[in-house]
Amino acid sequence: VIIMKAHVKQDVCIGCGACIAICSPVFQFNDDGKAEAHNDKIDAMTEICTEKAASNCPVDAIVVS
Ligand code: F3S
Repeated sequence: VIIMKAHVKQDVCIGCGACIAICSPVFQFNDDGKAEAHNDKIDAMTEICTEKAASNCPVDAIVVS
């Protein structure tokens, strides 16, 4: 099974928190008030909300691969 990876572009994220509301296991705020992706939390269950978080970020800061 190939599990996706997510990355939050730190220079693009405005800290709106949508990704964290949608997929809190994977996305958490860091000390800079930006979201950070925890790829070790992406599994068959959370990859669905990971995708959803990426598509709902208002500034397209989340890259999934
Ligand atoms: Fe940042 Fe987008 Fe999440 S602005 S906090 S990566 S929804």
